[in-house]
Amino acid sequence: MKNFPDNFLWGAAMSAPQTEGQSLNFGKAATTWDYWFHTAPEKFHQNQGPEITSGVYDHYLDDCRRMQDIGLNSLRTSISWARLLPDGKTINQEAVDFYRQFFSAMLDHGIETMINLFHFDMPMWLMDQGGWENRRSIEAFAFYAKTSFELFGDLVKKWTTFNEPIVHVECGYLYQYHYPAIVDFRRAIQVAYHTLLAHKAAVKIFREVTQTSEIGIILNISPTYPRSEVEEDVLAAFQSDLLNTRSFLDPAVLGTIPEELTELLAEHDLLPEREAGDHELIKENLVDFIGLNYYQPRRVQAPIAPKKPAEMPADFYAAYDWPDKKMNPYRGWEIYPEALYDVALMMKKEYNNIPWYVSENGMGVADEERFMNDSGEIEDDYRIEFMKEHLSYLHQGIVEGSNCFGYHAWTFVDCWSWLNGYKNRYGFYRLDLDTLERSMKKSGRWMRAVSEKNGF
Ligand code: BG6
Repeated sequence: MKNFPDNFLWGAAMSAPQTEGQSLNFGKAATTWDYWFHTAPEKFHQNQGPEITSGVYDHYLDDCRRMQDIGLNSLRTSISWARLLPDGKTINQEAVDFYRQFFSAMLDHGIETMINLFHFDMPMWLMDQGGWENRRSIEAFAFYAKTSFELFGDLVKKWTTFNEPIVHVECGYLYQYHYPAIVDFRRAIQVAYHTLLAHKAAVKIFREVTQTSEIGIILNISPTYPRSEVEEDVLAAFQSDLLNTRSFLDPAVLGTIPEELTELLAEHDLLPEREAGDHELIKENLVDFIGLNYYQPRRVQAPIAPKKPAEMPADFYAAYDWPDKKMNPYRGWEIYPEALYDVALMMKKEYNNIPWYVSENGMGVADEERFMNDSGEIEDDYRIEFMKEHLSYLHQGIVEGSNCFGYHAWTFVDCWSWLNGYKNRYGFYRLDLDTLERSMKKSGRWMRAVSEKNGF
């Protein structure tokens, strides 16, 4: 039996744009996703867009009961900036009512509400002004954060500013999976820098508004493993970590941007524009906790034909295809649960053993109806196996002293996955896309048993 610490959070994560639906109704303004789907629907799997998603806006009351039914004691979702402040300034009362009722219902069902502010859902009015490239986005985000803390602070005791901030940077400005889908390393770095400052500005305001709650940030972590111990491969892994992990984790927890990162960017003429006062903002506004989303490791080797100045991250490290890898073929991601142990020890040794939790972990599988039994339940034993293995390695890290306070699976009910639409399903509940009916999968029953025993 693997026992987890007292008060361990067993939960799930989701986000407003991937679940709420009613995406242009009840006062909500468009985000880049609404705009992009409107202008280029063919980019989205089976033309599935953001308007309906999983219908949480209409089903939230029953959903809170469903969360309780699978033993969740906590859940993270996000507020939609474009719903709460459609023009960035004016509060939408319908949004306030919705979120207050939703968060209160969660609490009534014994679910601790953890709220994130930005989950890739840039309001279109701000994108029209340059999005995170425009320094004024920092102030706009700080206003949104302050408004949220004031409106919902009595219901939410754990806040996070951003989900996976590096993802909107790389997907929007390097790899073209998010709007504006351009390729420009220099602009990507400016976007990352302003995002970091927006996070810091929100933490600063948080400390002024409340003393009784906690604030953190959710980062995606892909521990980097070099192909070999050869110097060039090890350097590639180090540089990959600088860009992908330490760029946000170090400033969030330690208050510093790694010197090696600044030097590397300077060497390639990629430093962002900075202003006086930024240094203090970064140094002073540290988080109370960290959420880490873990899906897959990153395996790298020395870059193949590096350019200087670098035009893409591939000029610093190349992907390495490890022949022994075990894959999730649907998502194309390696399955490597051992990494959660490495992550746990990294947090202990390199980040002052700050409280942290696994804020997302899960397995996306296509065509899950193949696994439906005669009573209509999806028998997702592969997902149970996946979570068990990950939890086992996490447990070992906790036994060795890592300060991990919870595990959130991705996700509660099958949700909309950006360009992938509803191709891969991750939920404890299956969503019928025609009726929006939810039905518990076998993993939901398993999660209830784990949560009841506080282990497995
Ligand atoms: C995380 C994101 O990166 O992974 C979620 O926070 C996302 O928004 C999840 O849905 C699973 O990835 P994907 O691309 O399969 O939806």
